[in-house]
Amino acid sequence: MLHSPDNWKIEARREAIASSNFAWRFASYSRGKRVSPLFFLGDAVSVLREIPSESIDFCMTSPPYWGKREYENGGIGLEADYSEYITKLAEVFEEVKRTLKHTGSFWLNMGDTYLNKRLLGLPWRLALYLMDNQNWILRNSIIWNKIKGSPDNTLDRLRNVHENIFHFVKSSHGYYYDADAIRATPKKAKVVNGSIVSATGVTGVRYKRQIELSTELSPSEKEAAFLGLQSMLDRVKRREVADFRMIIRGQQRATHSPSGKVSGRARELQEKGFYFLKYHPKGAKPSDVWEIIPEDSQGRRLHFAAYPEDICRIPILATCPKDGIALDPFCGTGTTMLVSSILGRKSVGIDISTDYLVEAHDRCVSLL
Ligand SMILES: C[S@@+](CC[C@H](N)C(=O)[O-])C[C@H]1O[C@@H](n2cnc3c(N)ncnc32)[C@H](O)[C@@H]1O
Repeated sequence: MLHSPDNWKIEARREAIASSNFAWRFASYSRGKRVSPLFFLGDAVSVLREIPSESIDFCMTSPPYWGKREYENGGIGLEADYSEYITKLAEVFEEVKRTLKHTGSFWLNMGDTYLNKRLLGLPWRLALYLMDNQNWILRNSIIWNKIKGSPDNTLDRLRNVHENIFHFVKSSHGYYYDADAIRATPKKAKVVNGSIVSATGVTGVRYKRQIELSTELSPSEKEAAFLGLQSMLDRVKRREVADFRMIIRGQQRATHSPSGKVSGRARELQEKGFYFLKYHPKGAKPSDVWEIIPEDSQGRRLHFAAYPEDICRIPILATCPKDGIALDPFCGTGTTMLVSSILGRKSVGIDISTDYLVEAHDRCVSLL
């Protein structure tokens, strides 16, 4: 029982959340202008079966843990065997795949679990199952570095502070992705003591010296390298390029294959003796390691497993169109819905627990 001065309001919300007829409610929501989230109470697979195919733009979720918590109305996570747990989750994600548009993205957050001292590798077991059996295409495997973990007094292993986040798509080409929406503000080239210096301090002096002293470049290659470098510095001066790196044969350690058959850059190095790496003028994309402190659940009425709002920002900005609909089939206290609303996207949240949906509803309503 929830303790609130406004119990009748809670009852009204419970009723709104508990009304079924999911197909009809979804159809009118997706046609309408309302952005505030739609909440469906029920088992994720059963509810999803009422949502039409190819009608959702984006899905992000963190499934219930295996064997750790008991959620209201049972739910997934109570299976005796972890392979049964993976099968149950996969049933939900098969429905997610059906309801997702071919341009859609699915982001899955999951932490791992130990059983009898064995780390089970559950996130990867599930990810591989989804790739092998449902043909999901994995685009990124992200490490969420939580920075601080729970207290850990074990004496024979390291502290765990990370969880996995996987980005899946249905089609390898043509899925919605707005890279510019998630770029860091670019650093700019500047003038220092009258000379142009790139965003990370490249003046060209060191490269000029390396070309001059090179024993690997022929005289004509050296001349071409000087001209190439000068033209790149001119582009920095004109603010067309904020930053660059020059790779010179025999000088810098290249990260690509040395074989010109395998790598275009290696071929350029063999044939010309140098090449340039230019930084994107609109700023760098985020990396696949995210440092985000977990949600502080102190003071919350319920739920210990909400993920932080920041975890949803990059996925929504990059892969949910502004007029799209987001989905979380295990929405809990509604973080995906809250961030979708903040970013102006419609969203649908499903959960088996009335109490969590009431909490989710109130979080989103207090914002709007
Ligand atoms: C890890 S929590 C999600 C937390 C959420 N990301 C948040 O920010 O609050 C998993 C949720 O799955 C729900 N759940 C468990 N089994 C379910 C099922 N079969 N169908 C729908 N929801 C289910 C639980 O009630 C719980 O709220």
